[in-house]
Amino acid sequence: MSTLEHKIEQVKALLADAVRDFSQVTFANSLGAEDMVLTDLIARFQPDIAMFSLDTGRLPQETYDLMQALRLRYSAPLKVYFPESGSVETLISTQGVNGFYDSIENRKACCFIRKVAPLKRALAGKKAWITGMRRDQAVTRGSLALSSFDADQGLQKFNPLLDWSNEEVWAYIKQYDVPYNALHDRFYPSIGCAPCTRSVTPGEDIRSGRWWWESAEGKECGLHIGRSPK
Ligand code: ADX
Ligand code: SF4
Repeated sequence: MSTLEHKIEQVKALLADAVRDFSQVTFANSLGAEDMVLTDLIARFQPDIAMFSLDTGRLPQETYDLMQALRLRYSAPLKVYFPESGSVETLISTQGVNGFYDSIENRKACCFIRKVAPLKRALAGKKAWITGMRRDQAVTRGSLALSSFDADQGLQKFNPLLDWSNEEVWAYIKQYDVPYNALHDRFYPSIGCAPCTRSVTPGEDIRSGRWWWESAEGKECGLHIGRSPK
């Protein structure tokens, strides 16, 4: 068995454990490359796992195109959560429509209203959630575990691709002909909201195109705060 096949079997086993021990399980799907690998594995092997995406209202067109492609390719439904409209209206009247560039506080307030608050709604009533985070994506992700109690959100959290390399993610996508975001072919390794994501030059850190005006140590949006024990 190749290393990739071995890793695929490990993910399948972890997903099965999650369903057995924690049903209701839900997968937070950003439609990034890692999350498309998980979409494919969940759709094929664990369709009982629900899937949701947080639509911040500021996603790139290419991400919406992929959302539509996902709908055509897989029968598993992707539930989309939006931010609360009154909160967005207040945010914009307070800091302006692109106020997130002005300070880290403004940026975090925007991420809170557009991502963190909707995440709470998406996780309500669930016993575990799944993410596509990998250890080597960022300095902030070195101490993640495959499975641990997420004290911030109050439920179990699984990171099944934790030990996958970027190359393995792409080998899977090619081997199983998984749809992916067209921006990845234009040097966007990590994709979030359009105004807070830019392309990188080859060899640069894969998250360097996210919130590029901030330092690497603080670049998390609040979905993954990381107070959880290992
Ligand atoms: S983050 O800083 O935006 O959280 P990243 O894009 O690396 O970083 O995403 C890490 C994981 O968070 C994804 O694999 C996914 O599980 C979850 N996630 C991030 N953005 C979203 C989103 N818009 N909708 C659903 N899940 C998301
Ligand atoms: Fe707002 Fe940018 Fe955060 Fe998206 S990534 S929620 S636009 S600050």
